[in-house]
Amino acid sequence: MIPTPDLSHLTSQDYDQVYEPAEDTFLLLDALEEDAKNLRDINACVCLEVGIRLCLELYWKNSWPFLYLCTDINPHACKCTVLTGKQNHIDLNVVNGSLVAPFGTRLANNVDVLLFNPPYVPTSEEEVSDAQLSRELGGSWAGGSDGMRITNVLLGRVEGLLSPEGRFYLVALKQNNVPQIVDTMRQKYGFLGEVVLQRRAGREHLFIIRFVRESKNSSS
Ligand SMILES: C[S@@+](CC[C@H](N)C(=O)[O-])C[C@H]1O[C@@H](n2cnc3c(N)ncnc32)[C@H](O)[C@@H]1O
Repeated sequence: MIPTPDLSHLTSQDYDQVYEPAEDTFLLLDALEEDAKNLRDINACVCLEVGIRLCLELYWKNSWPFLYLCTDINPHACKCTVLTGKQNHIDLNVVNGSLVAPFGTRLANNVDVLLFNPPYVPTSEEEVSDAQLSRELGGSWAGGSDGMRITNVLLGRVEGLLSPEGRFYLVALKQNNVPQIVDTMRQKYGFLGEVVLQRRAGREHLFIIRFVRESKNSSS
């Protein structure tokens, strides 16, 4: 089982500024747990998580050399994650920046596991622009008219980031149009997408989509 991180050091004041783990967080964790054997089989050793959380590092921390990189646009989320690493006695490489921009091309085709639980809630375009500029809590959910404004930017970077056997796990909401996301990734970038978990949580219908390169599908 993937242990849930000890978050007892975080206070209600932190959660005024930082996204509190919720159903979407735990659904992604469950999907990764189901895929743990596959990830071991591909000898995954570089993980990049955009929009910080903490799970694989805990799971693998004593298993093999594992580089866990995470980025978040919200500086408070980054500070909390550094503290979470200390609280759980693990080294996390936390970078405050937007999506994968801080790495330039240095990670080219070297990421074995890419994770993104994005701001996916449909909002006005003005709200998403303001949220991205302010880098505060609103950036956790504001996703523009179809909830895809931030996700679409990352989708365009996946091909250049993933290693040949790499996997990309994306959290999406029904309103984000999951079939369209899967079609776009196949037609534009040559990735096969599969819904590996879905769950209704209150008003939200959440999906975890796993993408692999089309040519690698037979080994998944
Ligand atoms: C839905 S929350 C998910 C938080 C966490 N990953 C989880 O699963 O509980 C989305 C996260 O993405 C971050 N985020 C939003 N826009 C971003 C961007 N352009 N680059 C990096 N992170 C971003 C937010 O600050 C927030 O922490």
